Amino acid sequence: MILVTGGAGFIGGNFVLDWLSNPNAEGIVNLDKLTYAGNLATLDPLKANSHYVFIHGDIGDKELVTKLLKEHQPRAIVNFAAESHVDRSIHGPAEFVQTNIMGTFNLLECAREYWGGLDAAAKKAFRFHHVSTDEVYGSLSATDPAFTETNPYEPNSPYSASKAASDHLVRAWFHTYGFPVVTTNCSNNYGPYHFPEKLIPLVILNALNGKPLPIYGDGQQVRDWLYVGDHCAAIREVLEKGKLGETYNIGGWNEKANIDVVKTICCILDELKPRADGKTYAEQITFVQDRPGHDRRYAIDASKLERELGWRPTETFDTGIRKTIQWYLDNPAWIEGVVSGSYRDWLQKQYN
Ligand code: NAD
Ligand code: DAU
Repeated sequence: MILVTGGAGFIGGNFVLDWLSNPNAEGIVNLDKLTYAGNLATLDPLKANSHYVFIHGDIGDKELVTKLLKEHQPRAIVNFAAESHVDRSIHGPAEFVQTNIMGTFNLLECAREYWGGLDAAAKKAFRFHHVSTDEVYGSLSATDPAFTETNPYEPNSPYSASKAASDHLVRAWFHTYGFPVVTTNCSNNYGPYHFPEKLIPLVILNALNGKPLPIYGDGQQVRDWLYVGDHCAAIREVLEKGKLGETYNIGGWNEKANIDVVKTICCILDELKPRADGKTYAEQITFVQDRPGHDRRYAIDASKLERELGWRPTETFDTGIRKTIQWYLDNPAWIEGVVSGSYRDWLQKQYN
């Protein structure tokens, strides 16, 4: 067994599905609090899978985590569980501190205690894989080189500050206790099962529903886009072959300005599902007030991962975004399930 936390969310859900699509893979115990971002419908295909166990709970719950480690004896933990949306962290940072910092701390402590009690072989094989973000490195100018693993931490939002704190805890547990960790810092993921508060799924759904496509500020902020399936493959590589105590950047080699991302989505939708009035979806683009403290540019240098572990992404932005849009067109039932009352309340609060 491996223990996955946050496996009902976007990346964790894709990871669990990918992992269990291999019939020879170890089983998965998935611990998830099912916040607004957790969605069990993503994991519907696993209902009858005897290699999969779902546990509803909080990574910050010491009693529960201790009990499930004892019961399931995982040989690895992959920690995806987090509050992940920057805009929500601006409206309410408390949950971010609670889950991303205190939750990770609790998970580390419970796991360290469990690991300490393993026999020598199991102890040697054990891994704690912490999933983190490129946002911990701060913001780049247009001409700065991309982030490498040695960039200083300069988080700018409550979200990225809480993720940076969790990375520091993970690092310290390795240096102080010899606890076997690896950390990955990745760029913006996109793909199936992405909750539509984030730019790409929000724009796809708003376009199809005839709503404005909100672009913060001038739309010239740059992100590196990583297809979620590529991210899952990279995590499997690092879990298998990563060096203990190391961090690895994961990126898609796909830097794009937000406005170009949105225009690309409009173009593909014009082709796959033309508007009834024959006009382009790009007419729905609306520039809105900028995000406070908005980081200008992120760019990931993922060459360490390629050099040391031989990983490279397989999707370009053009192939990945087309697959993603097609997935949203093909899965109206999943979308219907996530656009609940609380999602509508969020849109009202954020976009008025
Ligand atoms: P998400 O918001 O879609 O999912 C988070 C999941 O964690 C949800 O299922 C939620 O219910 C669960 N969760 C939240 N608090 C919990 C708690 N206290 N205990 C147990 N479960 C809890 O997030 P995501 O986009 O899938 O991101 C996964 C991880 O990857 C996060 O750590 C995030 O910081 C990191 N990350 C995400 C991206 C991205 O582009 N989405 C990029 C870089 C890093
Ligand atoms: O870089 C990795 C990070 O990517 C992850 O750590 C986060 O968990 C993930 O949410 C994501 O953060 P971003 O803030 O970059 O993602 P988001 O989709 O919210 O925004 C992408 C860009 O688009 C960003 O520059 C803000 C902008 N944006 C976003 C929304 C929701 C808009 O212009 N309009 C919008 O309505």
